[in-house]
Amino acid sequence: MTRKFGFTSTTDQVLSGHSLKGKRVLITGVSAGLGIETARALVAIGAEVIGTARNLAKAESATSVVRDAARTAGGNFDMIALDLADLKNVDHCAGLLVSQGKPFDIVIANAGVMATPQGYTADGFETQFGTIRTGKGAVAQKRTAAARLHLTAKNITQ
Ligand SMILES: NC(=O)c1ccc[n+]([C@@H]2O[C@H](COP(=O)([O-])OP(=O)(O)OC[C@H]3O[C@@H](n4cnc5c(N)ncnc54)[C@H](OP(=O)(O)O)[C@@H]3O)[C@@H](O)[C@H]2O)c1
Repeated sequence: MTRKFGFTSTTDQVLSGHSLKGKRVLITGVSAGLGIETARALVAIGAEVIGTARNLAKAESATSVVRDAARTAGGNFDMIALDLADLKNVDHCAGLLVSQGKPFDIVIANAGVMATPQGYTADGFETQFGTIRTGKGAVAQKRTAAARLHLTAKNITQ
């Protein structure tokens, strides 16, 4: 029978009966909000999740619930530093991930900012544009692994 979900459905209800054992998932922005819950829900059905955060210390304490779920359900959770508002940092992070030689089955480009005060990224882009569209900027350069990684991420989720 087809299950129906609505606005009161929880993530766990939607994922119930599914398994992501053996699947590798990259989630950006696991230090707050939806990123934490997304990571928690996916490790709870067995996924190996790599979460990115620009502030690893903040993310470390924010994701204790994710590690608890991974321990209970057999998933796995690791983190890597990534500041989307700094193209050099994006390139560095992508280089580390690519050097691991393990492809991702799912990429969730969750990190972002909205309606920020006027400001600029390390590369001089307006904050919101630079943060959310950094990857597209990197893609335009068509050179780096970071570009390829981020093209994939943005194409999947937006
Ligand atoms: N919640 C909503 O109703 C809603 C509606 C429309 C769109 N969205 C989008 O959905 C996504 C998640 O929303 P949310 O409510 O969970 O947002 P949130 O609680 O503000 O969390 C955003 C996440 O993005 C990270 N982030 C921000 N700037 C970053 C940067 N330069 N480099 C790396 N990470 C960065 C934050 O890191 P820090 O913890 O270090 O700040 C945090 O982990 C966001 O992209 C948001 O714009 C949300």
